[in-house]
Amino acid sequence: MKQVLVVYYSQSGQLTHVTKTLTAPLREACVVDYLELKPLKPFPFPWDFLTFMGTFPEAVALTPCPLAPFSLPEKHYDLVILAYQPWFLSPSIPMTSFLTSDYAKKVLFNTPVITLIGCRNMWIMAQEKMKTLLQNLGAKVIDNIVLVDQGNAFATFITTPRWMMSGKKDALWGIFPHAGISEAEIAKSVRFGRAIKAGLASDKEKSFLPLCEGLGAVEVNQKLINSEKIGTKSFHIWGKCIQKFSKKEEAKRKVFILFYTLFLILMILTVVPLNMLLQSILRKLNKARVLKEKAFYERPSGNGQHRMEEFLPNA
Ligand SMILES: Cc1cc2nc3c(=O)[nH]c(=O)nc-3n(C[C@H](O)[C@H](O)[C@H](O)COP(=O)(O)O)c2cc1C
Repeated sequence: MKQVLVVYYSQSGQLTHVTKTLTAPLREACVVDYLELKPLKPFPFPWDFLTFMGTFPEAVALTPCPLAPFSLPEKHYDLVILAYQPWFLSPSIPMTSFLTSDYAKKVLFNTPVITLIGCRNMWIMAQEKMKTLLQNLGAKVIDNIVLVDQGNAFATFITTPRWMMSGKKDALWGIFPHAGISEAEIAKSVRFGRAIKAGLASDKEKSFLPLCEGLGAVEVNQKLINSEKIGTKSFHIWGKCIQKFSKKEEAKRKVFILFYTLFLILMILTVVPLNMLLQSILRKLNKARVLKEKAFYERPSGNGQHRMEEFLPNA
């Protein structure tokens, strides 16, 4: 029987729900070991605003936090699934921390890995960081599956932070969509589990080939590529300064974070709209380059849908 390890972290339970739904078909044919990551000092949920923002310097710098000890058999896994969420355009701190563990170093070396992301809608730069971390561990990323929150970018700019700060997912004022990934999307993620099961049955993972292509695993929103790049640079520069002059628990960290938040709001109200206008013109002028970039970030699974009928009939 094939051996599969599934590593995940979730605050609200959303990514746990996605992970368990997606991997259900695998449990019919493989031995599936689940490892839920638990920070020794749990991150709050719901968050208060300053703690939420105050987490960005460590998240962006990939600074690990201590995790509760876990014990798993030191066996060979045919496949590892890493389910994570981006925090400030970087992998969330618990997942980054797992990747620094001795266990991860052993279990991921030369092993096929599927990354599974559940987030608002900005995951591209987090996945680039994840790819580098995994490459450094000698792991081979064979698929990337992304599920994003329901609603457009404007709606989720309201609904996701509201959910993070209050825990409320309901339809705000009856006009906004529910926060988070829709139940229908989560239910449909079972197609990936079915395809992974079929891929493992034919030893496809041994050649490090994608198991989830043709199933609409990722869709890069090209309008977000440059915003993510600019955001990552800004977080990196400011995060480094804030880390240099204040520690996570220090009171003065709150002052720096407040100052940065004010700067961010000012940017969102002034520079961001102008930049969006400029970017939409540039995208029209550089269509070919943008499409190439989109295809790059959608690798290795791609956004094709040609196997949907096979793994999700009557959808
Ligand atoms: C501190 C923090 C930062 C976040 N940053 C991002 C982000 O950069 N991009 C994004 O799409 N979602 C972001 N989110 C939303 C998460 O990716 C995720 O959708 C949400 O936390 C729910 O995941 P859960 O399963 O852990 O509850 C962030 C959430 C938190 C708590």
